[in-house]
Amino acid sequence: MTFEAMNSKRIFLKQASAAALITASAHPMLTWALPQEPAVSLPGEQSMVLRSFRFIDLESPVEYFNTWLTPVPHFFVRNHMYEPIETQDDWSLTIGGEVDKPFSLSLRELSRLEIHSVVNTLECAGNGRGLYRPQVPGIQWGKGAVGTARFSGPRLRDVLQRAGVKSTGKHVMFRGLDEVPGKVPPFIRSIPIEKALDVDTLIATHMNGSPLSKHHGAPARALVPGWIGAASCKWLTEIKVLNTEFVGNFMSPGYRFPNQPVKPGEAVKPEDTHPLTALTVKSVIAGPGDGASLKAGRLAIHGAAWAGEADIAKVEISADGGTTWSSAKLGREQAHYAWRLWSFDWKPPKSGEYTLQSRATDSQGRTQPAVAGWNPSGYLYNAIDEVKVRVL
Ligand code: MTE
Repeated sequence: MTFEAMNSKRIFLKQASAAALITASAHPMLTWALPQEPAVSLPGEQSMVLRSFRFIDLESPVEYFNTWLTPVPHFFVRNHMYEPIETQDDWSLTIGGEVDKPFSLSLRELSRLEIHSVVNTLECAGNGRGLYRPQVPGIQWGKGAVGTARFSGPRLRDVLQRAGVKSTGKHVMFRGLDEVPGKVPPFIRSIPIEKALDVDTLIATHMNGSPLSKHHGAPARALVPGWIGAASCKWLTEIKVLNTEFVGNFMSPGYRFPNQPVKPGEAVKPEDTHPLTALTVKSVIAGPGDGASLKAGRLAIHGAAWAGEADIAKVEISADGGTTWSSAKLGREQAHYAWRLWSFDWKPPKSGEYTLQSRATDSQGRTQPAVAGWNPSGYLYNAIDEVKVRVL
């Protein structure tokens, strides 16, 4: 096989799947979500849940939500198509549209700009989709399409200001370099100019202090803090200032939410929806795990809670089906767009079966609902979390 062929992502994936049939038993830590399919060996991504085989979609097991910053190999990956077969040497970023001076930057030029860091919880809008009833089509994410990292890179506003945004510039469009399969539309989305000019919106080149990995958008991605993950375009190659919101598949019909609550299973007209922006309030129990058998005595219930552009005000725990709630202790580490780890010291009154629940409230007064607002695309699942445990 030629080097060029070896370089092809598609061939790599085919090889990986074939190899996995043989080597699955050599990776006892690898978790597989779809029982009939073979496990796949992806370098450096052991223990992740593989949600899609064709394009790489990896979910973090919730027990990884025990560090404030998620290590990169444990950070979920969401790809709509093939990752680019890039050569970083000829990568460039063009800035154009409604600007006075369009220009382009090489990676070297980009790296000379002033660097800013933001700790951000990145969550896929579809996280938790698999928990909606009735079920909706799409990747059946469990609870782990979310992670927190320190993203670093130049501010988007510095680059836009250098180009000189015209008064007609109302939205900023990002184009990714993904390898587009067949007739699938390219990954292009836009954000309003106000969010683009925010001091914390970045052209990120680093994650947790290291250059971005391929899965997470190397060499540069947009980082739109507090917003759904889809806003943070990976493998960024073009920034274009527009006089109106971008029109395309990943803005509509993709990533839109009904304007009014809908009955589960009900269809929604496109004109009755709006584009998703900031994340909502949510908490997840990282431990004990669902179905765990626990020794009696003092037990730690712990997890993470986040709220997009808002801060977490409190996390409450119930061990009696929601009749009584007690406040969990919030972790010391915090940043505006980042999750708070939390823990609760629980002493079960007697042995038996318990349903443990966690419920977060944020600085805007939003509280996790008992039932998440069903919508036809299964976005923004944020129901009160629960696990069932047995105390011996
Ligand atoms: N950018 C490009 N170019 N292509 C993509 O498929 N997926 C988006 C976003 N940026 C995507 C993209 C979605 S839906 C999410 S949730 C985040 O990237 C996931 O980022 P991660 O894979 O680094 O965790």
